[in-house]
Amino acid sequence: MLVLDGKIAAAAVKESLKIKTAQLAAEGKRKPHLAAILVGNNGASETYVASKVKNCEETGFASTLIRLADTIDEASLLSTIHELNSNPSIDGILVQLPLPKQISEQKVIEAIDPLKDVDGFHPINVGKLVQGLSTFIPATPYGIMLMLEHYKIETKGKHAIVIGRSNIVGRPMSILLSSNLKQGNCTVTICHSHTPNLKELCLQADIIVAALGRPGFVTADMVKPGAVIIDVGITRVDDSTAKKGFRIKGDVAYEEVATKASAITPVPGGVGLMTIAGLLKNTMQAYEQRADS
Ligand code: GUN
Repeated sequence: MLVLDGKIAAAAVKESLKIKTAQLAAEGKRKPHLAAILVGNNGASETYVASKVKNCEETGFASTLIRLADTIDEASLLSTIHELNSNPSIDGILVQLPLPKQISEQKVIEAIDPLKDVDGFHPINVGKLVQGLSTFIPATPYGIMLMLEHYKIETKGKHAIVIGRSNIVGRPMSILLSSNLKQGNCTVTICHSHTPNLKELCLQADIIVAALGRPGFVTADMVKPGAVIIDVGITRVDDSTAKKGFRIKGDVAYEEVATKASAITPVPGGVGLMTIAGLLKNTMQAYEQRADS
């Protein structure tokens, strides 16, 4: 059984970006620059955004973190986004989700300049993804594709089951795996809370991507021997024995599923690190596209 190690695969992506950034510096060019907006102080969002900013620095990118109070009104947030859209020194913009309920996530997503939309959530970029055009691929599915590529996982002709239909992970993941890409060409079944025969479907799967946000949901009895298991879950579960008072749990019951799988991503240390690799690649892509235009 192969552990699909996010630390190793993400380090390889980061290393190639570091080399590119060093080359830019040697040519006297500016660095790729990511602006991240964090609204409020949700613990998990704080951790993710801090990690995104730290990884930018480690890769030689510039980053700007804009923190806004969770009481901010929608118009003020939209105006901050418009300023970043027209700021020529900013290449990529991300607004960490979820947002407080007074703010429409859809309006925020649509306010970001599609050319700076390094999350790939803007409808224009989603449309391009569906049509197989060059675009920003949402960071988590992108990271998973990079992970499959790094470990040379064969996907052509395989049956992949994606559990979860979110715009951030499940839906774009299903599109990528079914696309005519090196790590695509799967037959994809997308499952969700109304899928009645989930276990039977999972037992037919060569690849399972679990992205539903329910800790330990995928158990060994749902997995065909030799399947490849990609665990996208990162739920905080209370644990008084842990230093922080919680533990991060994936959507897969790792210990029992690992005994049946041919390859599996751990949590933590798997897909989460690849999400950041996907974001960094998108930021470099935004920089290069803007430099070319
Ligand atoms: N919240 C959970 N995942 C993501 C992501 O990939 N991007 C943003 N902006 N927010 C998220």
